[in-house]
Amino acid sequence: MLHCYLRKKTANHDFVRAYTAKELYKATNGFHRLLGRGGFGEVYYGVLKSLHYPEIAVKKLISSNDYSEREFGNEVQSIGQIHHRNLVRMVGYCKERAQRMLVFEFMPGGSLRSFLFQPQQQPMWSWRAEAALGIAKGLEYLHEGCNYPIIHCDIKPDNILLDSKKNPKITDFGIARLLSDQQMHTTVTNIRGTRGYIAPEWFQSDRRIDTKVDVYSFGVVLLEMICCRKSQEPVPGQDGDDSVMLFEWAGQLVGDGRTEVLFHSDDDAIEDLFRVERFLRVALWCIEQNPSLRPTMHQVVQMLEGVIEVDTLPAPTSSNCSSPLTSSVDESPLLPGGATLAIE
Ligand SMILES: Nc1ncnc2c1ncn2[C@@H]1O[C@H](COP(=O)(O)OP(=O)(O)O)[C@@H](O)[C@H]1O
Ligand SMILES: [Mg+2]
Repeated sequence: MLHCYLRKKTANHDFVRAYTAKELYKATNGFHRLLGRGGFGEVYYGVLKSLHYPEIAVKKLISSNDYSEREFGNEVQSIGQIHHRNLVRMVGYCKERAQRMLVFEFMPGGSLRSFLFQPQQQPMWSWRAEAALGIAKGLEYLHEGCNYPIIHCDIKPDNILLDSKKNPKITDFGIARLLSDQQMHTTVTNIRGTRGYIAPEWFQSDRRIDTKVDVYSFGVVLLEMICCRKSQEPVPGQDGDDSVMLFEWAGQLVGDGRTEVLFHSDDDAIEDLFRVERFLRVALWCIEQNPSLRPTMHQVVQMLEGVIEVDTLPAPTSSNCSSPLTSSVDESPLLPGGATLAIE
């Protein structure tokens, strides 16, 4: 048993391999097939002679002299040790002069963004619900399952990728630690498309952030997954009223007990309205403006699973400071959570 454990721990694929730029040039056929472009650089498809990860995605981080002073190789090694079924595996890296590249397992299903927002073929509610729970578990693991809490800082549907069986996996965790705090902040707050997922405290002057920024972003993603709608796109007004934002609309319908209005011809969701409503209330708690009122990801997982109840939502303008959660298992209040990272 111990022997097995040691063999597993020392197996080659448990370590993040350092590649030369030449090796990655060859693996990607000269950076030929672009998978996508994001705020930190470009991502290319590649093939390696590897048993475990023959297909890879190589992320060329923007060349910069502004990388974190922390040792890149060590940081990458520690990120590479983080394994969970809902997290994309980092399998290698390259560091040559100002150039930095990261090598990930290839995710053939593409991003949640492209899967979720297909106009003609929205994924079934049963898949959406399971996928949302998986993403919550991946994030819970980053916050509470590692040696130290990892704040993702950039949770959005583009950073959730799907494997060949459409299982969702979070990618780009730990990137915040590879960049300088200033670079991370500038990049995250300036990327087009990311803005709607950023917790309000990112824009506050003292810029103190903790795991609750991820809870906020998760709440936005969860709401989008429930409704199959982009949170940034206003919902046309009913009966000639002005258009409203998705949060506002969902909040009102949940409050009025008219959740089914959200699901035009989504029979799968309408048949499971009890769970839909629970998920909606969790999403609305996650996007609370006040970070201390947001649940922890552990609590989110428990609420989504129905292990603990989701308390009634506060009125939108309320400055209610009581705990948002009550336990249905025992009546003791849940501990507030969230590790703290000061990024000034
Ligand atoms: N491991 C991967 N496997 C397959 N495609 C990937 C992988 N990583 C990233 N991509 C693709 O590359 C795109 C750009 O990724 P990235 O640079 O992280 O930017 P962003 O997260 O802002 O979209 C992603 O949206 C995705 O479509
Ligand atoms: Mg990304």
